[in-house]
Amino acid sequence: MPRDDAIEILPGVHWVGAFDPDLRAFDLILRTANGTSYNAYVVRGEEGVAVIDTVKENFSDEFFRRLESVCNYDEITAVVINHLEPDHSGALPELLKRAKNAEVYLSTRAPLMLKALLKPTDAMPKGFKVVSTGDTVDLGGRTLSFLTTPFLHWPDTQCTYLGELGILFSGDVFGCHFCDPRLFNDKVGDFRFSFEYYYAHIMRPFREHVVKALKLIEPLDLSMIAPAHGPILRHGPHDYVRRYRELASHRLANEAGTEKTLLVFYLSAYGNTRRMAESIRTGAEKVEGVRVSLYDLEGGDPSIFVDLIEGADGLVLGSPTINGDAVKPIWDLLSSLTAIGVTGKLGAAFGSFGWSGEAVDMIEHRLKGLKFQVPVPGVKVKLTPTGDELAQCVELGARLASNLMASPQFLAAQT
Ligand code: FEO
Repeated sequence: MPRDDAIEILPGVHWVGAFDPDLRAFDLILRTANGTSYNAYVVRGEEGVAVIDTVKENFSDEFFRRLESVCNYDEITAVVINHLEPDHSGALPELLKRAKNAEVYLSTRAPLMLKALLKPTDAMPKGFKVVSTGDTVDLGGRTLSFLTTPFLHWPDTQCTYLGELGILFSGDVFGCHFCDPRLFNDKVGDFRFSFEYYYAHIMRPFREHVVKALKLIEPLDLSMIAPAHGPILRHGPHDYVRRYRELASHRLANEAGTEKTLLVFYLSAYGNTRRMAESIRTGAEKVEGVRVSLYDLEGGDPSIFVDLIEGADGLVLGSPTINGDAVKPIWDLLSSLTAIGVTGKLGAAFGSFGWSGEAVDMIEHRLKGLKFQVPVPGVKVKLTPTGDELAQCVELGARLASNLMASPQFLAAQT
């Protein structure tokens, strides 16, 4: 394939993006073994031409050559930006200089971000329209409809649907970092790992937003998903939608929402913090409807527990204090939680200490920073817990479990 050819993906619709086969780390955090693509598209109607997304700025020349092979700048009436991250908006300022008849279609959260994103030398687009779910653009026999899908993965994310051909221009959703000029999912190499990896690192922290977006996407009649990275999904597009549904549906035992899950993790050098953990479990088990699990972090790599925590309602962490700090596996576990959504889950901390006991406060502080609610103060015990101190742990477990169930009795007792 000549390097700068546009690729027709369905009649009147062309891929005009760019390949970046040498990329090995995206946004500093995602690794890719064979680079990525920045997918941009052109849709031609009888009365207008739309460009959907652009490319990273340093791939602009490649993008413009492909674009010029399928349309004149004067024909472009619409530029759609599905989200503003620079890997898709990098060529936007230059495109708007060239396509003087174009209006820019952005989601409601985008204009302020666009202003912050543009360089001081770039003018804000004169004609931009804010659109949301249900809004459409008529290109003449080709109609673009917008679906507002915020936080997948930027606040301003939207998807764009071309109903007449059943194409969903999905932005980063359903994308992956996989560079293969054969472009279509039935032609490229095996990219399943990249698809799952991309979901895990980009979409998973926004699981609840994925679920909301799927409610908009699942009813669509799809012939093809055209994402902003990686292969175009023309073979079995609904399979990828279903996979997102599976990945976003993490609950196993608690699907009905009638049971709450509380996980207690601890490390214990001499058994004191472990005894506290067991007492917390005893207290939590007293509350009907709460399923409690107890784990010694010495028994596993913290990363394997992330799935459990994603599906849980509450998390209790116990650590001794060593050299004025919680122990490393606790911090490893907490740092792993940035990959999932934990906002609003309940958290608590406990631990035995020898002489200073900072760990509990530090863990609570970190839990709050991650946006856990920490409704019950932690319990610190100097060395061996007494009967009274273990009773405090039982109380901690019971109060936290009651909070999970939001029982009226508990709420009354708190007032
Ligand atoms: Fe591919 Fe969120 O940019």
